[in-house]
Amino acid sequence: MKASSISPANIAFIKYWGQKDQKSFLPYNNSISMNLSNCISKTTVEFSNELKEDSIEIGFENKTFSKLSPTESGKNGFLFGQIENIRKLAGIAQKVRVKSVNNFPSDAGIAASASGFSALTVALCKAAGLNEIIADKRALSSLVRQAGSVSAMRSIFDGFTESCVTENECYTQQIADEKHWDLVDIIAITTLDKKSTSSTDGHSGAETSPYFAVRLQEISERLASCRKAILQKDFTKLGECMEADTISMHAVMMTSKPPIFYWNEGTMQVLNAIFKWRNEGLQVYFSIDAGANVHVICLSKDAQEIEASLLNLDKVLRTIINVPAMGTKITEEHLF
Ligand code: DP6
Repeated sequence: MKASSISPANIAFIKYWGQKDQKSFLPYNNSISMNLSNCISKTTVEFSNELKEDSIEIGFENKTFSKLSPTESGKNGFLFGQIENIRKLAGIAQKVRVKSVNNFPSDAGIAASASGFSALTVALCKAAGLNEIIADKRALSSLVRQAGSVSAMRSIFDGFTESCVTENECYTQQIADEKHWDLVDIIAITTLDKKSTSSTDGHSGAETSPYFAVRLQEISERLASCRKAILQKDFTKLGECMEADTISMHAVMMTSKPPIFYWNEGTMQVLNAIFKWRNEGLQVYFSIDAGANVHVICLSKDAQEIEASLLNLDKVLRTIINVPAMGTKITEEHLF
């Protein structure tokens, strides 16, 4: 059977960095994120007796489709692993064709794993007839994580979500839906280069930083503040939490062995501009993932002015504007 789904990437306000169990992809800490309306993956899958092997093709806004090989290492290899997981759950043997397209460029440094893994998992479940899992979003989020992506599990629910980790499980729950708060995330792209260290490699070095234990000590309080700030729509509190968390995560990265520096000159140019605009009275904050691009977070009333000012900075190559978005959905629009 054929099925398709669409799913957003997300920006984590409180980030996950490091895994306490690398086999089952269990993060050390909860993370909180907002789905992004303009960073979307759409995936179509079809199980068929006619197929001799699994095939996955992925396309980006600015590139033609490329075919992935099952022997690939890292995240691409995990996609084939998720096909196997779902085949086992459904008790089917048929091979599958997968085609996925992202509406953002491959070279913009936006993690395609969150939108891609969630879209793939839901389309596979639908095509394999696993309707009870699709209906149980908590179980579905856990299944998405087992594909190898913690950020992807946060994209399952609409709007603002939290991935919650216990001793041996991790699942997502919703904090508020996408209509709750008119925040805007303007992604300021400062490089078109692939990042020097993959986040998969980065996660495994987290414990080597002397500051990692300190980060984990602080994080419960920061999670609680962030949750409360979202529910109460307290933008100053949210901004303070998200910046503190970004700085804490990058301090861990920079002090890991070997150290990882993701920031570039453009990153600092955007940060300095944000500090200046804030001193002048504008409400604007930043968040940075495992890369050099800056997520500039503001209220919708200020978004146009801030985007124009960002585009005036010589190190900003382009911007992508996002508002809070729905989570992963089934669609009847197929890619083949
Ligand atoms: C810095 O981008 O590797 O974006 O697929 O979940 O492993 P996974 O995502 P990956 O790591 C995310 C790290 C982060 C913070 C975050 O999104 O929580």
